[in-house]
Amino acid sequence: MTKPLTKIRNICCIGAGYVGGPTMAVIADRCPFIKVTVVDLNEKRIAAWNSKDLSQLPVYEPGLDAVVKRARGRNLHFSTEVDLTISQADMVFISVNTPTKTKGLGSGQASDLRWVEACARQVANSAEGHTIVVEKSTLPVRTAETVQSILQASQEPKDEQTKQKTFVVLSNPEFLAEGTAISDLESPDRVLIGGEDSEAIEALAGIYKEWVPAEKILRTNLWSSELSKLTANAFLAQRISSINSVASLCEVTGADVKEVAKAIGADSRIGTKFLNAGPGFGGSCFKKDILNLVYLCRHFGLPEVADYWQKVVTLNTWQQDRIARLVVKKLFGTVTSKKIALLGFAFKADTNDTREAPAIRIAKDLLEEGACLAIYDPKVDAKQIETDLTLPPNYVLADKSSSPKEINNAEGIWWPSQNVKEAALGADAILILTEWDEFQYLNWKEIAPLMRQPAWVFDTRSVVNANAVKSTGLRLWRVGDGAQ
Ligand code: NAD
Ligand code: UGA
Repeated sequence: MTKPLTKIRNICCIGAGYVGGPTMAVIADRCPFIKVTVVDLNEKRIAAWNSKDLSQLPVYEPGLDAVVKRARGRNLHFSTEVDLTISQADMVFISVNTPTKTKGLGSGQASDLRWVEACARQVANSAEGHTIVVEKSTLPVRTAETVQSILQASQEPKDEQTKQKTFVVLSNPEFLAEGTAISDLESPDRVLIGGEDSEAIEALAGIYKEWVPAEKILRTNLWSSELSKLTANAFLAQRISSINSVASLCEVTGADVKEVAKAIGADSRIGTKFLNAGPGFGGSCFKKDILNLVYLCRHFGLPEVADYWQKVVTLNTWQQDRIARLVVKKLFGTVTSKKIALLGFAFKADTNDTREAPAIRIAKDLLEEGACLAIYDPKVDAKQIETDLTLPPNYVLADKSSSPKEINNAEGIWWPSQNVKEAALGADAILILTEWDEFQYLNWKEIAPLMRQPAWVFDTRSVVNANAVKSTGLRLWRVGDGAQ
């Protein structure tokens, strides 16, 4: 039997996505004595991680380029050689996608674990000696059992010459948020390690101890760790649905959700974070993780608990729908052939990620109503928007001179704009959907005369200076503002 390793020298991370890439870049940066190789099946993605031009990295995160620059080529590598890298590793992180199942048992709720299972099988085949397998992906509680049984099946040596393989499975969920990934990884609120094998737990803790204070490294059993990740996301999402529900009540009662959020957040038991009303939460994880929780609750015979969490998602969808309906209502009941400047397509600021972005659902609803959308986002390109809307852009109207006259009878089309002014030209409304910094500082005196009057600004993120907008004669709707 091979002696378990306590000091990790060689890490393989399977999955070079939003989590695998930045997480491993920070580990490599902080632990120059560990060789870290991130592998992926997606050749284009790996090529982008290896690109000389750091602005071409596949993930946009403030500060990521500097970290990659320091570590890449030194002890950080990106490769498509999955089997070889696994065979050399003491520790393998599984950081692959775990989306919601789209068909079969649990369709629309349960997590699709096919990529995790494929990884477990690949590790089982290719690993040599003793390997610590770390679940980094967000997984349904008790997935480690499946991973363990796949690995166990390969533990028996095939013949006398073959060295025996041994495995330990740990859970180490990731809590980073996009847009702040590097600072979250460099100064995490906590690092969570779940497992049964204390030597393996300490080997992983030893890596984090290089830069994370010891008291922030929490150790739990496997199932608590897996479940903590799902419930942390559920709690965060629940706060957003709660404040969005309050926003709608503010709008009909004369209260202001910003003031209410400040007042309730001042209670240290509630706290100030995650109380910004908006167009509903987006991102690749909140919805899928809550739906997974709902599925698990039903599976374990807890329908009331499942219904409770389901409501968080239901309210989120309602919030997105109500914003699209409100825009139509304010524009005299019809948006057909009207130009609307849609500002922000990413699901939040400081990321190029559009997965589950509220902009997708809201834009689709407005296109369905016949609107012509000029879409501007500082980081999301036209190709991505086309994929998300499943509709190619209409470039005939994409030039700077597009105006209501030229739009004529066009309906249900969109095109990308290069900047806010270009998008606003001739528009009946501006709809702000992402809280990018630049939208806070727009020059409304310059923008207002470009628009067709009477024109509206719909600020779903409450980022604009309300007085500056109103002083130009523009009409303003701000989420949760009952004074309007
Ligand atoms: P992603 O889709 O960006 O990346 C996953 C990568 O895994 C893809 O590049 C894919 O090609 C690769 N992959 C899939 N199967 C593979 C295999 N068998 N071999 C090699 N490569 C394979 O996903 P992500 O956003 O990085 O999320 C990964 C996990 O982390 C998910 O479980 C997610 O819930 C969780 N998570 C995500 C975030 C986030 O901010 N995105 C934060 C915390 C946790
Ligand atoms: C979220 C969690 O914050 C991370 O801890 C977690 O690791 C991650 O999910 C994950 O598991 O994927 P992320 O989705 O990247 O991170 O970003 P958040 O900052 O949580 O924002 C999610 C959505 O909620 C965004 O659409 C954001 O605009 C919205 N939001 C956030 C609000 O509408 N109001 C708020 O007050 C906060």
